[in-house]
Amino acid sequence: MVTVLGMYGWPRWLTSAHEGSALIVRDGRILAAIEEDRITRIKHDGQIILWNSIKDVLRITGIKASEIDAVAIPWEAPEETAFYDLKNFKLANLAGYPYSRVNRIRLNFLMQCYGIDAPIRFVNHHRSHAASALLTSGIADCSVLTLDGQGDRNESLSAWEAQNNVMKCVASIDAPTFGDFFSAATNAIGFKINDGEGKTMGIASYGDPKPAYDQIKDFLNVDGLNVRGTIDNSARIQVDVSDTKPFASYRHLVKGNNPMMDLAKKFKKEDLAAAAQKLLEDRVLEFVRNVIARTGKHKVCLAGGVALNMKLNQKIREMQEVEEVYVFPNPGDSGVAVGAALLVCKDLMEAEGKTFSNEPMIHTYYGTSYTDEEVLSALNEYRLEYQELKDPEKAAADLISEGKVVGWFQGRLEFGPRALGNRSVLADPRNEGMKDKINKYLKKRDWFMPFAPSMLSEAKEEYLEEGVEAPFMIMGFNVKKEKIKEIPAVVHVDGTVRPQTVTADANPSYWKLIHEFEKQSGVPIVLNTSFNRHGQPMVRSPEDAALHVVWGAVEYLIIHKYLVDAKVKIG
Ligand SMILES: [Fe+2]
Repeated sequence: MVTVLGMYGWPRWLTSAHEGSALIVRDGRILAAIEEDRITRIKHDGQIILWNSIKDVLRITGIKASEIDAVAIPWEAPEETAFYDLKNFKLANLAGYPYSRVNRIRLNFLMQCYGIDAPIRFVNHHRSHAASALLTSGIADCSVLTLDGQGDRNESLSAWEAQNNVMKCVASIDAPTFGDFFSAATNAIGFKINDGEGKTMGIASYGDPKPAYDQIKDFLNVDGLNVRGTIDNSARIQVDVSDTKPFASYRHLVKGNNPMMDLAKKFKKEDLAAAAQKLLEDRVLEFVRNVIARTGKHKVCLAGGVALNMKLNQKIREMQEVEEVYVFPNPGDSGVAVGAALLVCKDLMEAEGKTFSNEPMIHTYYGTSYTDEEVLSALNEYRLEYQELKDPEKAAADLISEGKVVGWFQGRLEFGPRALGNRSVLADPRNEGMKDKINKYLKKRDWFMPFAPSMLSEAKEEYLEEGVEAPFMIMGFNVKKEKIKEIPAVVHVDGTVRPQTVTADANPSYWKLIHEFEKQSGVPIVLNTSFNRHGQPMVRSPEDAALHVVWGAVEYLIIHKYLVDAKVKIG
């Protein structure tokens, strides 16, 4: 057996570590994966010192540190320059840059903490993103694209031709492109970078791209397999690895420029967002077309933070040249270690003469699960009264159809940004007022952000214009016009949804719940939003869920077979 630990959470700067995660892969299969922030409860946490997630994946799988054959890191290898060697000293070493010797020391310290004595394998960041999409897609031959803010050096974009699960790079751009452009728009509109990009996409549906489009269209240009972005939004080190003079990195530290800041004073937020979304779509589609022309592969796999943009993903799926699109369900940096771990595992397996099989991912339930005893202990700790249910799925469906906001906690935690029926808050999609109700209880979302539906897989053709399987809420679809009024709480203003199609194979309990709701309401769909209060990471443990009840974030909690009415507290 080949067992690989993947990990991510490298701090770029000492102050901005983000998106930490760890996972274990054995013989090409993911056994456990969890984001650091689910444990530390600090959103997007990258942990500067310790990775709690490493401990958790070892505990979940029962795998001993001594059984790990390799550790995979989705960055290129740190330089071996000693930081006390003044001739080769670089400021980056102190700043925590991924290449740095300081990080190497820190990594060795971490391995010692967990008793792991396995070789560390470094995999290029974009290659890791690409592998995360390819090797979980079940598609051996395809075009693979990765789009993000910045990977190794200044790389922000790569394209690959995959043949029989082997990737050959056909394009790599070592400069800011799509990710930085969209973050710059997000920043100019007034949302947080690396957090608010989804809001920019959301508000864009309320705007008109025309007024601002002409003024921003030259910020991104595509020429064959080259992309030129003129915006460098964030201050960054323009890495020049050939420069070995003292303080080299400091000389290459450039200040960001964002001409969209001025445009934000001139145009309405929603119009600037609409123009940015349209330009992103236009240019990415042009690039995808050129990549397909080069590779001849019409199936497309996507990863990188930009692939969180479900409207862009929808436009790619609708391209004539595209036969099928698979978007890795955790395409941002919190999922990038999956690609590094699978690639390293594949290499080691093939070296042993074993065949790596690229099996399609059908769910994301790779996190922590709990026993009934642990659940009861948390409910007792928070002094919550509960009753035991015979049929939790039916009870949940009853409450939802009565218009209640229900916290639903079952099985293993989801890996990735979306709750997919194990740590979800559920409500009735037929009632448009549900959006306000959930916002009051839980989310405090911006007025323009839509909620998403979970639908029985069997109902996808009935509700969606293109009824294909979409298990991960990462792809936009047009709802059939006559169906929009049936489920107003989960349809965006432009008539699109970001659905989860639920199969009985992937999640039997959740499938049953939705089916029970259908029996009562005639609608095979529930509103599903992640179980977390505004600003919090998704709930992981029974304690987190109980605390949400105490905070008044839900009306009812069904956790395993136990029902908690938030109004009833033990005195
Ligand atoms: Fe990335």
